[in-house]
Amino acid sequence: MRFFNSPRVPLREGQFIDSAAARFYHEHARRFMMPIYRGLAAEAGKIKHNIKRVLDIGAGSGILEIELAKAHPDWRITGVDISEEMLKIARDSAAGEGLTERIDFLEGKADALPFKDNSYDLVVSNASLHLWANPKKVLQEIGRVTVRGGYCLIWDNLRIPAFYPLFRMVGWGMGMNKAQRKMWLRAIESGYTAGEAKALIKSSALRHAGVTINFKLLELCIKWQKDQQT
Ligand SMILES: C[S@@+](CC[C@H](N)C(=O)[O-])C[C@H]1O[C@@H](n2cnc3c(N)ncnc32)[C@H](O)[C@@H]1O
Repeated sequence: MRFFNSPRVPLREGQFIDSAAARFYHEHARRFMMPIYRGLAAEAGKIKHNIKRVLDIGAGSGILEIELAKAHPDWRITGVDISEEMLKIARDSAAGEGLTERIDFLEGKADALPFKDNSYDLVVSNASLHLWANPKKVLQEIGRVTVRGGYCLIWDNLRIPAFYPLFRMVGWGMGMNKAQRKMWLRAIESGYTAGEAKALIKSSALRHAGVTINFKLLELCIKWQKDQQT
């Protein structure tokens, strides 16, 4: 049955470059995605490593950075994104929370990160992997900028074609309007299944990363630690 093995439907990497799309996403994220940001911030807090510098790839409107900064007062966080419109919202939000001393945002591409080798103790990314046109190059870049012994957590929408009707009902039940449900379902349809993510990781610079599913949040979770000797 085609339904159960529907292929990924990739989306354009630059779909949030436009200011209306960025604002629409920010409102959606603020209203529906807080459990995911808090879940990722809590997961990051469990890491046993001395974390000071954190990089968020595909930072978007900055909600994750703000949650990370609130949960971890000694972390300094940089967000990078190709959408200046998203970053404008992110900078305003960080200023509104009085966090500009510890959070900054930079326009840049995930597959050519504008940072030196071994510069971040922790690299995070949420809801961006499904948009990367060249995911292996991004994973290579993550490997390059992470310090030895440092970590990376990548979370994204989990694609399970058999669950599409369930996702529709969940979106409706959460109070998403038609346009919000459409954006969310498209993001899911362009996401990776756990098997696809494992295959991608295995052939990448982060080949030893673990790929798990958080069924409560319907998230795909990738966790990697850089070798101490690399
Ligand atoms: C769905 S939004 C998620 C934003 C944020 N991480 C969050 O969880 O709310 C995806 C973000 O990834 C960014 N993005 C997509 N491809 C990118 C790339 N190659 N380099 C940097 N940012 C990218 C988009 O511009 C967008 O802001």
